[in-house]
Order: sequence, then C-alpha cells, then structure tokens
Amino acid sequence: MPRTVTSAQVVNIADLRLLAQRRLPRAAFEYIDGGADGEVTLRENCRVYDDVALRPRSAVVAKSVELRTSVLGTELALPVLLGPVGSCRMFWPRGEAAASCAAGAAGTVYVLSTLSGTRLEEVKAASRGPCWYQLYLCGGREVALAAIARAKTAGYSALVVTIDTPVAGLRERDFRNGIKELLSGRPLTMLPFVWQFLARPRWLAAFLVDGGLMNFPNIVLPEGPMPYADVGAALEQSATSWEDLRWIRDAWGGPIVIKGVHTADDARRAVDAGASAIVVSNHGGRQLDGVAPTLRVLPEVVAAVGGRVEVLLDGGIRRGGDVVKALCLGARAVLVGRAYAYGLGAGGEAGVARAIEILRADLARTLKLLGCPSVRELDASYVSVPPHWHRESL
Ligand SMILES: Cc1cc2nc3c(=O)[nH]c(=O)nc-3n(C[C@H](O)[C@H](O)[C@H](O)COP(=O)(O)O)c2cc1C
Repeated sequence: MPRTVTSAQVVNIADLRLLAQRRLPRAAFEYIDGGADGEVTLRENCRVYDDVALRPRSAVVAKSVELRTSVLGTELALPVLLGPVGSCRMFWPRGEAAASCAAGAAGTVYVLSTLSGTRLEEVKAASRGPCWYQLYLCGGREVALAAIARAKTAGYSALVVTIDTPVAGLRERDFRNGIKELLSGRPLTMLPFVWQFLARPRWLAAFLVDGGLMNFPNIVLPEGPMPYADVGAALEQSATSWEDLRWIRDAWGGPIVIKGVHTADDARRAVDAGASAIVVSNHGGRQLDGVAPTLRVLPEVVAAVGGRVEVLLDGGIRRGGDVVKALCLGARAVLVGRAYAYGLGAGGEAGVARAIEILRADLARTLKLLGCPSVRELDASYVSVPPHWHRESL
C-alpha cells in the first residue's frame, strides 16, 4: 500500500480511502465511511453508475478539453464542488480550513458545514476561491441569524439549506464505535472505547495539539459555542420547514441552494420557495436509508425544474466517469463528500488536493475518450440508461 497521498501509487479515490483508514482512529474513519441503517442507499449511490453506459464518438480528436463551467454565475475550473462535511477537524487539524484552501487552489467552491469545528471566518480566509455556507438551524432562529450575518460579512457567496435532516439518521457503525459514550465526557463511560485513539498515536497527538474535542464555533448559543455532545438533540429541535425558507431568504439576501431534494414535487416546491439552485442529494445515504440513488432520480428532477434553476447532484461520486454520467443526465455540476473527506483524513490539504486532481484528470481523459470537447456539451446522447428508466419516467 502507498505511504503518502502524493505517492504515484495513489491512483484513485479508493487508494485515498485506504490511507485514511490507516491513519484515522476507527470511530473517525467509520464516521466518514458509514451510512444509515443497512446502508442500502449508500451502496446504491455508488453502484448505480454501473447501470449507465457511455456512448463515445470515436475518431474525434480533442487535443485539449474544456472542464470549466459556471455555477450560480461563478466560474469554476471543473464541475466538482466540495460539499458540506461536518466535523472535519476530527480528520485533520483545522480540517475545514485545509479543505477550503485546497478547493480554492483548484479553482472550485468549498461548502462549509454548520457542524464544523473551525470558525467560518478562518475557513473563508484560508481559500482564494469562492465559499458557500451550509445552514442547519441548530440552536434556533436567533442563533442561525447570527451565523447568516457572520457568513455574509466573511464573504460567503451562497447559502446552502439542507432539508433532509429532521433527525440524525441511525449510523449503526457510530453506535458500535461508541461515539455517544466518547462524547459523554465521563471517563468511565468512555474507557471501553478509547483504545481506538491510543492505536493511532500520531493522529491523537495532532488532535490534542489542535485543541482536542471541539465545540461548534459557528453555533453560538447564549452560553457560548455549542458543545459537541449536544448535536443529536440540537438537530432534532431544528428541523427546517418550507416556511423557514422565507425568513432565511430575507435574512440572507443572496442566492440560496436547497440541498436534499429527491422528487419532482420537492424540486418544484424548492423553485417556488425561491431557490437559485437545488442539490439532488440523499445525504450520501446517511439519513433515510432505502431512498433511490441520486443518479436515478436526477432525470425526474431535471425535467420538473425545466431549466428554471441550476440542478446539482451529490452521492456516490468516486471517479471522473461518474461526474460525466451525472452531467450527461442533466446536472450542472456535482458535489463530493467522502471523496475529499478520505483525502483529508489521509493527508490534510495535500490529500484533498490529490482527490480533486484525481477527479480532474479522470474527467479530462474521459472527455477525450468520449470525443466530447467540453463538459458543457455533455448530454443524454453520450449515455444509454436501462430501458426501465425510460418507462418509469413516463
Ligand atoms: C462525514 C460526513 C459528514 C457530513 N456532514 C454534512 C453536513 O454537516 N451537512 C450536510 O448538509 N451534509 C453533510 N454530509 C453529506 C454531504 O454533504 C453529501 O451530501 C454526501 O457526502 C454526498 O455523498 P458522497 O459522500 O457519496 O459524495 C456529510 C457527509 C459525510 C460523509
């Protein structure tokens, strides 16, 4: 196995995943890797790309291919954004700043989760590219309004509202690894689970130097930043409804991206609620297990929206070929979660940069092999989908 993220033997995202597994304590690695319940949606999100076949145009010579596109009017070097991933500081010191720095250097957007361990101002300052802020209503309306105001002042250019988290999904691996006990703060309760950290002394040293168990500096309650242990209860008390979108929109005053859309009906509702873009997402299979993989529902959502707003997709993207298939089926761009979180866990900023570079190189090569000069020219004529996809869409 390669030893570092820059090794020539790191050729795909699965290699970064293995490096992350080797460096991180089990609880942290499985927090990234796992999904809800039986992990059916998690597996399907990835597998569904195998159902879609590419249809190349041969003998087309494209010496260089164009990967640039725009999302919400912002020019991006490639149609891949880094989606919101909570608790990045568990994977690398100041993990959110490391990831935003890599995203900015690669010419793409970093989306910062509300549930991050680094101050939103520091994360924005670390990037020379655009950043978006992902909002949960943890702590209630006043707390969210304060975060919105800070994000605006810091220069975040869009607000991502995640609507698929009325409660946290049941991540069985987290239970088995004792996440609840580890966050209890009670030494005797924590004791049976601390071996995971002792087995990774280098990670542990870096984690402690970075400040140890974090709180959430962007969720500022009257008594101070929200402690880590309170996150489950906070999510349950802060489900976002369509009515909330009205005051969120008024407070933000800029583009809103609604993340967590699965159906044509919700897509139309999001457009009516004033979204500038939507993300077809099932939270990477971490919330409601058993929902369809995102690529499968993308065509239905794209048809429902009818070009009124931009449609993005996330879930299961591990290769540039996956990005190509999503773009062919109507996504303007994709977000990745685990693909870069593995890189962050494996090697911090360099690991995230490597993850983006792997996807970028895959994309360029796939476009050349397809005989398509630009990501903007990808359409349904470059893929074939199983016949029942057409029948079920009628
Ligand atoms: C470790 C982890 C933490 C996440 N935290 C958040 C979050 O705080 N907010 C959010 O909207 N989505 C969150 N997500 C979901 C991602 O934004 C994205 O929807 C998902 O990871 C896409 O699937 P993929 O991991 O297969 O790319 C998280 C995903 C992971 C893997």
